[in-house]
Amino acid sequence: MAIGVFDSGIGGLSVHKALVDRLPAADFVYLADQANTPYGGRPGEEIVDLTRAGCERLFDAGCDLVVLACNTAASVALRRLQQTWLPGYRKALGRPVNVLGIIVPTIEAATGLPWEHEAERRGEKVEHLEVLGVFSTPATTASRVYEIEIDKRRQDVAVFSEPCPNLARMIETGADEAALKAEIAGHARALATRIGRPPDRAILGCTHYEITAELFRAALPPGTPLIHQPDATADAIERYLERHPEYRAGQSGLRRFLTTGTPGRQNGLVSTFWGGPLDFEAA
Ligand code: DGL
Repeated sequence: MAIGVFDSGIGGLSVHKALVDRLPAADFVYLADQANTPYGGRPGEEIVDLTRAGCERLFDAGCDLVVLACNTAASVALRRLQQTWLPGYRKALGRPVNVLGIIVPTIEAATGLPWEHEAERRGEKVEHLEVLGVFSTPATTASRVYEIEIDKRRQDVAVFSEPCPNLARMIETGADEAALKAEIAGHARALATRIGRPPDRAILGCTHYEITAELFRAALPPGTPLIHQPDATADAIERYLERHPEYRAGQSGLRRFLTTGTPGRQNGLVSTFWGGPLDFEAA
């Protein structure tokens, strides 16, 4: 049995890497839906259908647990699949299986950690307002999941989202660093203009963006903290597996990488990020 990790493409490798580092003995199957990437500009129903197909493929490959390492799939499809598809599917399979997302762990990391507050003096009253910037795909931005979930937990945090319609595709197709740098700098500027100043902290709310975290760091004022989805997710999944021994993660250190796109070697950026070349087999 294994843990499945799903993304529209290579971005989920950022989460996958953190999971593998955290649970080195566990078995992992990664699925990149590269035949259909990017998801970020697609209608919701398509994202739900594609995500369900990806989960089925991973359960067929022997996974007990699937982690949606994709903000777009998690924000648009996760709840729908958990409510309307998984209960029947689980029964038909005859074994416990589940699908988890990466948004809640990210929001817990964003709202649960102490950080510097900006104090604004208005008369005698001191107000603390943290401005959190979220960079994400248009579908994730449109879902408003970060605004809604953070607002439920912290009234002293204002969330501003910046949709980046081209960025996941550029990363997926191996755009060069200069082009990525210009694209990311443009989005950082646009967000700062909208807020009236740069954000105090930022969430890279698309798993592809984590691979270019250094470029985001360079585009934001020095020292702007970034909330890391991969670490937050690895913490949450480790705790989840401890609480749920019915989902077996395996223990032979299996690493399989599947793609619905063209099998073979992935682009140079992935290799750099991963620390070595990575070959995918046909899904
Ligand atoms: N990496 C995914 C995410 O976190 C999807 C990007 C896309 O397919 O548009 O949103």
